[in-house]
Amino acid sequence: MSILTQLDHPLLQHKLSILRRKDTGTREFRQITREIGMLMTYEITRDFPLAPVEIETPIAKTTAYELSGKKVAIVPILRAGLGMVDGVLEVIPTAKVGHIGLYRNEKTLQPVTYYYKMPKDIDKRTVIITEPMLATGGSLIDAVTMLKKDNVKDIKIMCLVVAEPGVKALEAVHPDVHVYCVGYDKELNDIGYITPGLGDAGDRLFGTK
Ligand code: URA
Repeated sequence: MSILTQLDHPLLQHKLSILRRKDTGTREFRQITREIGMLMTYEITRDFPLAPVEIETPIAKTTAYELSGKKVAIVPILRAGLGMVDGVLEVIPTAKVGHIGLYRNEKTLQPVTYYYKMPKDIDKRTVIITEPMLATGGSLIDAVTMLKKDNVKDIKIMCLVVAEPGVKALEAVHPDVHVYCVGYDKELNDIGYITPGLGDAGDRLFGTK
């Protein structure tokens, strides 16, 4: 079984097309990235366990169902991963948020870690890593390795667009994680950007270009 699930919901596909357009401005890009984060959470949490609870409505006693599994931590990879966090929090407001700071050395394309801060009980939580672009896979491989050193067992990764080489590289090192994406592109260009992709997700979210 592949580690990848591409979400084909029409709302997600439509919203990704808006993000891909080069004329989409920062404000709309940020808003739609947040909305996609919220909609993807709905799909990603589909396998969360429920347990019966006895409750009383204003009318009668009944059996209802509540989430019974691990609590959630959202872990954005800085800085582009921040763009999806508020969307996830909108539907899982009790989630805690850890941060991983990584950047790519532009010459070697290798990730360099400059920040790592997790909730104390991270090992007891289901972690949703947010990283809009899975390109070479280098950053995500490092991020998952760091979380596993902290004994995290249950890792889901939320991406906007993934590239085939990055998915293969991640799967080779971490076959036990699961990646969810909206767009699936075949190639990277010669500076490691996903093609056609949507450009630099951080620059587009924060208006830094
Ligand atoms: N990071 C981005 O923001 N975009 C890409 O295409 C690849 C890495």
